Amino acid sequence: MNPDPVLSLIRPEILALAPYSSARKEAKAGRVWLDANENPRTPSETAAPAGRPALNRYPEPQPPDLVATLAAYYGTAPENVLVSRGSDEGIDLLLRAFCRAGQDAILITPPTYGMYAVSAAIQNARVVPVPLDAARGFALDAEGVIAAAASGVKLVFLCSPNNPTGALLDRAAVLRTARALLGRAVVVVDEAYLEFAGSPSLAVELAAVPNLVVLRTLSKAFGLAGIRCGATLANPALIGVLQKIIAPYPVPTPVLQAALAALSPAGLAAARASVAAIVAERRRVAGVLAGLPAVRRVWPSDSNFLLFATADAAQAMAATRGAGVILRDRSRDYGLANCVRMTIGTPAENDAALEILARL
Ligand SMILES: Cc1ncc(COP(=O)(O)O)c(C=O)c1O
Repeated sequence: MNPDPVLSLIRPEILALAPYSSARKEAKAGRVWLDANENPRTPSETAAPAGRPALNRYPEPQPPDLVATLAAYYGTAPENVLVSRGSDEGIDLLLRAFCRAGQDAILITPPTYGMYAVSAAIQNARVVPVPLDAARGFALDAEGVIAAAASGVKLVFLCSPNNPTGALLDRAAVLRTARALLGRAVVVVDEAYLEFAGSPSLAVELAAVPNLVVLRTLSKAFGLAGIRCGATLANPALIGVLQKIIAPYPVPTPVLQAALAALSPAGLAAARASVAAIVAERRRVAGVLAGLPAVRRVWPSDSNFLLFATADAAQAMAATRGAGVILRDRSRDYGLANCVRMTIGTPAENDAALEILARL
């Protein structure tokens, strides 16, 4: 029998690990709950306002209603979903599952989201960079990635739309990369900003491409960065491995309530309206930025932020910061000299930034 193309890449000690068996994993139904050393009451009214679920009980490790709702929203099946504390936790879990400290590597495509390299450093995994092609609008160098992945790379992180450059990666190039690396590496597509692109998720390919993983989050389109709720979408065997290493109760009860409300029909309609407003405002802000004397270039964006090049990023940052308007200096990122990233806020917030930048 051929070895499983994904499980064969997992750290052997993680494959062999007997995970912690929490009380809520062992018993699902009962009348009197005396198994988890919980307090029978929540003494503080502030911790459990009337009408809200009691907080004295541990939550479900992976609340089935939230898992099913996320699966429906992301167009996949419940067995393909792991809920985590933001998608950042998904990145960390993948590193810990696949990368043997001091031996294995991840591949990133700079300039890109910083947490891939930070999680790699925590796990003592090497980072192999294969830059995006700036000349082609920061496009994926699929052939370069496939070639470089030969050197001990277990995980390839592709961010689409990419932070901080803003644009989607070419779907066919991502799929070609994943297919070429089957049995050698897992391709993780971080779709944190996908709703702002209006493009379909790669999650529909999970069944056909077993070494594909998709990361999603409620932090951006749903405006819920404060609840820390993300999802890792992957083949069921890999989800099973990640479930072994995630903390026993990663979905606090108030998070579950907020996430379910956000994914209700009314919540989904509100998120769609919010995304549409941000996308319209992104178009307006990009147009204004492009006309400012100190702005050299504005990159097209499929996300809720814009990357632009200025004559002098330090000066732009100082001027905005001096007025209490906080942008993100990306000028130290690979290939982004004098570049600044601006999140699309409310029209008034955006105008506050634009007015200062106009004076430079
Ligand atoms: C590309 C990308 N992935 C993941 C994250 C983390 O998101 P979460 O809030 O779900 O941890 C961010 C946050 O900015 C991001 O830009």
